[in-house]
Amino acid sequence: MSRRKIIAGNWKMNMTPTEAKKLVAELEPLVKNDSVDVVYCVPAIDIVPVVEAVKGTNVQVGAENMYFEDKGAYTGEICAAMLVDAGVKYVILGHSERREYFKEDDALLNKKVKKAFEAGLTPILCCGETLEQREMGVTLDWIRLQIKSDLDGVPASDVAKMVIAYEPIWAIGTGKTATSDQAEEVCGAIRECIEEIYDASTAEAVRIQYGGSVNAGNAAELFGKPDIDGGLVGGASLKTDFGSIINY
Ligand code: PGA
Repeated sequence: MSRRKIIAGNWKMNMTPTEAKKLVAELEPLVKNDSVDVVYCVPAIDIVPVVEAVKGTNVQVGAENMYFEDKGAYTGEICAAMLVDAGVKYVILGHSERREYFKEDDALLNKKVKKAFEAGLTPILCCGETLEQREMGVTLDWIRLQIKSDLDGVPASDVAKMVIAYEPIWAIGTGKTATSDQAEEVCGAIRECIEEIYDASTAEAVRIQYGGSVNAGNAAELFGKPDIDGGLVGGASLKTDFGSIINY
């Protein structure tokens, strides 16, 4: 079975709605590619204009976060049903910036993953180690702990459809990309972990991205690795470089 590549931009806290529409128009001719899935994960306020702007193109829209409750007194939060109604297909969950700055833990992320599936969204679940953890030699233990906790009680049929993004924290926004061998080692270990929790066909189906300073110069080598099914791209997704990454 060959997995279809998925390359997602993570805009983070960038782009006003006006800027967002401009960027989508600028990227449109550059990101045309029918053989990969292209996703823009955008700030909440940009969702409605970006869904409108990508209509009729090969691009789908993702959110950068959501809350697990259905509705109610959670000031400032956005629920899964709101995203679905707005035309969102994917949602990034557990990005290291959410884990670090907003104290999101694995128990919370487990609830978010389940809610995303219940609503019909595809989660892009992030995991990754700090530089300190890598130097201590606990990277694979840490990643396995994150995956096992975040997917606790999630059925194989859902996991087969999801996306997992391996993003070493030391490589995010730093210009220090993991080597393709380092990235492949961890993405392969994630697939083994999925096989261990579920089964071989679920492990074969799940798509695993690499993220962390992906750019036009390193995308081809990273995405050429057998267990790397595309990328989650921050900084370079806001520039015309994203077109070169899509057409790596
Ligand atoms: P970067 O961000 O590509 O700017 O390193 C990746 C991410 O945080 O998803």
